[in-house]
Amino acid sequence: MCVCVCVCVRPFCDCVWDRREGMDACGTSLVLILLFWLGAGSRAADIYWTYSGQMGQPQWSEFFPDCGGSGQSPINVDSAQTKFEPRLPAIRPLGYSQHSNEPFTLSNNGHTVVMPLPSWMGIGGLPWQFSAVQLHLHWGNGASVATGSEHTINGRSTAAELHIVHYNSELYENISMAMTQRDGLAVLGVLMEVGEETNQAYANIINYLSRIRHAGDKVTIPAFDIQTLLPKDLRSYYRYNGSLTTPPCYQSVLWTVFQETVKLSLPQLVKLETLLYSTEEGSSDPLVLQDNYRATQPLNQRVVLASFKHTGVKVYNAGEIAAIVMGSLCGCVGLAVIIRFIIKTIRSKDMEKALKQDMALKTATESSKSAEPTQSEP
Ligand SMILES: *[C@@H]1O[C@H](CO)[C@@H](O)[C@H](O)[C@H]1NC(C)=O
Ligand SMILES: *[C@@H]1O[C@H](CO)[C@@H](O)[C@H](O)[C@H]1NC(C)=O
Repeated sequence: MCVCVCVCVRPFCDCVWDRREGMDACGTSLVLILLFWLGAGSRAADIYWTYSGQMGQPQWSEFFPDCGGSGQSPINVDSAQTKFEPRLPAIRPLGYSQHSNEPFTLSNNGHTVVMPLPSWMGIGGLPWQFSAVQLHLHWGNGASVATGSEHTINGRSTAAELHIVHYNSELYENISMAMTQRDGLAVLGVLMEVGEETNQAYANIINYLSRIRHAGDKVTIPAFDIQTLLPKDLRSYYRYNGSLTTPPCYQSVLWTVFQETVKLSLPQLVKLETLLYSTEEGSSDPLVLQDNYRATQPLNQRVVLASFKHTGVKVYNAGEIAAIVMGSLCGCVGLAVIIRFIIKTIRSKDMEKALKQDMALKTATESSKSAEPTQSEP
C-alpha cells in the first residue's frame, strides 16, 4: 500500500509494475487513484499513457476500456477484402484553402505535433456536415522509412500518416459532445512516403518543429492552404467505422483513408522523426518523440468500403511470399509422403500376395511331393 501511495504522485507506472509482480494491494489503489482523479475534476484523457513501456499500448484498455473494443483503429486494409461502393462521392474540402490572416498554432503535446483548425473549415461528401477541429501526425523512428503510418494497406506501412479530425456539426454542438458518439467524428487519413523532392506544403509545418522541441511548447506559424496537404486524387479512398487511435479510443470515427499517398523528402522525414521530445524542457530523462503510431487492430465483423475499383495484380509482401513458399514446400513434402505411403502399401500388398502365392505353391508342391511316394508305391 505504501508503494501505491507513491503511485499517486508518479501516475500509475509503479503500480502497474507492482501488479505484474503480483502485489494484490494495487487493485484497490487503482480505484483510489481513479477516484482521486475524478475528485480533482480531471477527465480520463489526462491519464498518462505512452506508445511503449509500462503504460504502453497493451495496457491502454485497463484505463480506457474503449481501447479494448471490437471496432478499433487503425486497421490493415486488405484491398482484396474491400467492398467497391460506386456511390461514395469524392471528398470535398470546404474552406481548406481560404485561410485568413489569422496565424495557425503548432504545438507539441508530448504525443504528437498538433495544429488546431478553424471550425469554418470542413468537409463535404460525407453523410453529415463535418467541421474541422485539428490535424496531427504519426511517424516512425528515423531508422527506417518503412514504418510510421498507423493504417497499413495489404500489410504494408508507410513512413508517416496525417490525420485531419472533424466533428459532426450537424448533430452535435462541439467536439466534446461529438467525440463519444457513434457518428460524432470524421477523420481524413493521408499516408506519407519518402520521395525525391521537398514537399512545400508540409514544409509549412516541418520547418517550425525546431521551435516546439519539448512537450508543452507552442509556436504561431503563418496560415497556409490546408488542402495542399491532401493528395490530388480525392475520389479514391477506403471508408470504414473505427475509433480514435489514441486513448480514450472512442469508437466514434468515420474513417477516410486516401488511396494516393503524399511524398516528403528524406530530410523532411528525418526532421519529423528526430526533432521532437515527448518530455518537457529540462526533464532529467529526456525522451525523443518517436514511433507514435498504434498497432493495427482486428477488423472483426467490419466491412471496409472502397470508393474505387481495384486495378492491377495483387502485390504480395515478404510475409505472404514466405507463407506461399512454405505452403508450397509443405504441400510438396506432404504429397511426396502420401505417394510414398501409397507405393509402399501397394508394394507390401503385392509382396504379401506374392508371398501367399509362393506359400500356396510351396504347399502344393510339398503336398504333391509327399503324395508322390504314396502314389508311386505299388
Ligand atoms: C460543449 O457543449 C456542451 C453542451 O452545450 C457544453 O455543456 C460544454 O461546455 C461544451 N464544451 C466545450 C468544450 O465547449
Ligand atoms: C458505419 O456505421 C453506421 C451506423 O451503424 C452504418 O450506417 C454505416 O453503414 C457504417 N459505415 C460503414 C462504412 O461501414
